[in-house]
Amino acid sequence: MTTEKIEILPVSLLDQNRPLVEEIKRLAASLGIGLGWHYLLDLSWIISQLGDVRGKRIMDAGAGTGLMQWYLAEHGAEVISVDRGSRADLSLRYRARYRVGAMRPEDLSSPGAVWAKNVRQAAGGRKILAGLRGALGLTRLALPVSSPGRVTIYNQDLRSLPLVADRSLDAVVAVSALEHNTPEGLALVVTELMRTLKPGGLLLATLGAGRDADWFHDPSKGWNYTDVTLRRLFALPTDTPSNYSQHDELLAALKACAELRDNLAPLYFQSGDNGMPWGKWDPQYQPVGVCKVKVS
Ligand SMILES: C[S@@+](CC[C@H](N)C(=O)[O-])C[C@H]1O[C@@H](n2cnc3c(N)ncnc32)[C@H](O)[C@@H]1O
Repeated sequence: MTTEKIEILPVSLLDQNRPLVEEIKRLAASLGIGLGWHYLLDLSWIISQLGDVRGKRIMDAGAGTGLMQWYLAEHGAEVISVDRGSRADLSLRYRARYRVGAMRPEDLSSPGAVWAKNVRQAAGGRKILAGLRGALGLTRLALPVSSPGRVTIYNQDLRSLPLVADRSLDAVVAVSALEHNTPEGLALVVTELMRTLKPGGLLLATLGAGRDADWFHDPSKGWNYTDVTLRRLFALPTDTPSNYSQHDELLAALKACAELRDNLAPLYFQSGDNGMPWGKWDPQYQPVGVCKVKVS
């Protein structure tokens, strides 16, 4: 049984969940998704605690176009994909592979409209290529989708989700999303997410860990929170177990992790405005998982 906890994600998760980690890598490669530098830890920690997701209603909170929602759909879940950033022009490559719908008409443009926009935006020779890619996407969209689950796009701030009923979800997952909220904003988000969970449902979120104080990592625009702050913002009992006492050993092991260091996504090398500026392996913070259970 999954119990409430706050856990800095150890790199040992990679070997403990080896088949899952390899599946995540394969799925990311096949979808052309560049994973965040610590996402193998975040994804494997969350997924390994969800159990069988087939037929479950799960919200991916702060989903962007990230891997979690596609993994869950591939394994038969009904996913509500929420983000304040619009995914109306969601790439056809996702729609060709997964059943994707919209909470409201404005949450998702039609495939034809996306294709036309791609062609309009592409310049010169790329225009033909984009047109061909789009045509391929449209052709594939005419074929039956192979994934058993479904993803429903909802472009909305997590502080207010009027179209998600009380006690309607089996789980809420959030991969490296909630730290992009101020402490005050995060408390409101947690209250709203807990409203949507069925009794016994799980909130599984990964954020950044702050050792002795809460601090803001400017390149990634994310907060790093102490375990004391996380207990308060997630309204967890003061005795909720945490492994923050091992912060320094876990950080040393993370810095020495060749698997994460050697698999940095290309996006990190292209800018200094991210979690690993200019692709120089030098983790400044660690991912931490929070598990909260809806009681009643
Ligand atoms: C670093 S990205 C991670 C995206 C995705 N979870 C993944 O695994 O790739 C953080 C995302 O969280 C979203 N987010 C953060 N706070 C949010 C909020 N209050 N409401 C809606 N989306 C939020 C952001 O818009 C952004 O898309």
